Amino acid sequence: MSKVVLCYSGGLDTTVCIPLLKERYGFKEVITVTVNVGQPEEDLKKAEERGKKYADRHYTVDAVDEFVDMIFMLIKANGDYEGYVLGTALARPVIARNVAEIAVKENADAIAHGATGKGNDQLRFDNIFLEYGFKVIAPMRELNLTREWEIEYAIKNGIDIPVTKDRPWSIDENLWSRSVEGGKLESPSYIPPEEIYEWTNREAKEDEIIRIDFERGVPVALNGKKMSGRGLIEKLNRIGGRHGIGRTDMMEDRVLGLKARENYEHPAATILITAHRDLEKLVLTRRELKFKRFVEEEWAELVYYGLVNDPLFDALNAFIDRTQERVTGWVKLRLGDCHVMPVARDSEFSLYREELVSFDSLGIDQSLAEGFSIFHSLQGRLFRRLKRD
Ligand code: ARG
Repeated sequence: MSKVVLCYSGGLDTTVCIPLLKERYGFKEVITVTVNVGQPEEDLKKAEERGKKYADRHYTVDAVDEFVDMIFMLIKANGDYEGYVLGTALARPVIARNVAEIAVKENADAIAHGATGKGNDQLRFDNIFLEYGFKVIAPMRELNLTREWEIEYAIKNGIDIPVTKDRPWSIDENLWSRSVEGGKLESPSYIPPEEIYEWTNREAKEDEIIRIDFERGVPVALNGKKMSGRGLIEKLNRIGGRHGIGRTDMMEDRVLGLKARENYEHPAATILITAHRDLEKLVLTRRELKFKRFVEEEWAELVYYGLVNDPLFDALNAFIDRTQERVTGWVKLRLGDCHVMPVARDSEFSLYREELVSFDSLGIDQSLAEGFSIFHSLQGRLFRRLKRD
């Protein structure tokens, strides 16, 4: 074997993989690929610097627009797995596809990633790399390495240890959410210190009302101003963050069955999904809303499980897109005190119309409701009578 492409974040784990892939796995050439899904600029820069320094070649690929397209699908699906907004889960296939494309271009013999054998990411990465026909190598999963061993090995191989500022958290950050896990946070009974949060605080002293416009289920404008998906999400992360909106501290069922304690920040996700759900309630029928809830749950599970290449995912999206043809309109929301609350909404497809409330104008005689009411509850009454006799 000669050439391997490594899915690279620039952190300790994936950097240690570079010499390991040569020493333990016998590769002659290691190519690192970092995919931009909206992580902080300095993280990307650091990854690029370190990739160029320690690997034979490095690529940085910009996939933000591709990720935004996935986020739009998520908004239409009100994406939510057990209360988690799916930021990491949704980004993984985007990252994996971009890494696989480079591996094809480079005619690589394998793709490596730094996911462990305990989490969900291994499933999400493996799936896509295998779909492309590559052999997958996951040193962290295969070699069972401890952090101490990794640090020693890094020093031996002339690799700088990234400064951790005495914060033992593992952070995964992208445009849609920020996840903080590990260290003391693993214990469900431990209250996290304020310092784990970076996107949310309570700086805003006064409530604020904002307006979001949707077109076919996709947010297109903030306070009347048209914005790109990326710009809108970044802006809402800042605005919502000041109100302390979008923190989640939860127990989560990993695919493998492990229960994990998770902490997330996601102001824009909370605001946009709250607004989107509210608009749907104005324009979709009761039956559409009820059925869509099942579809949404299945949708979120496929994303969480890393199964977005299953044909079911396409079929669910087709259903969802059909419902979104009428999800056009605006929602006003009040932000304040860690909460977001819809306070007004309107749409050209609204199923509420003032003139319809008065039955006369519809040509409906309300006395007809009596007959409806008699049949409506018939079976329950039959049953109760049965019991009585
Ligand atoms: N539990 C989440 C998921 O499976 C987030 C994992 C984030 N990883 C991290 N190292 N913080 O999608």
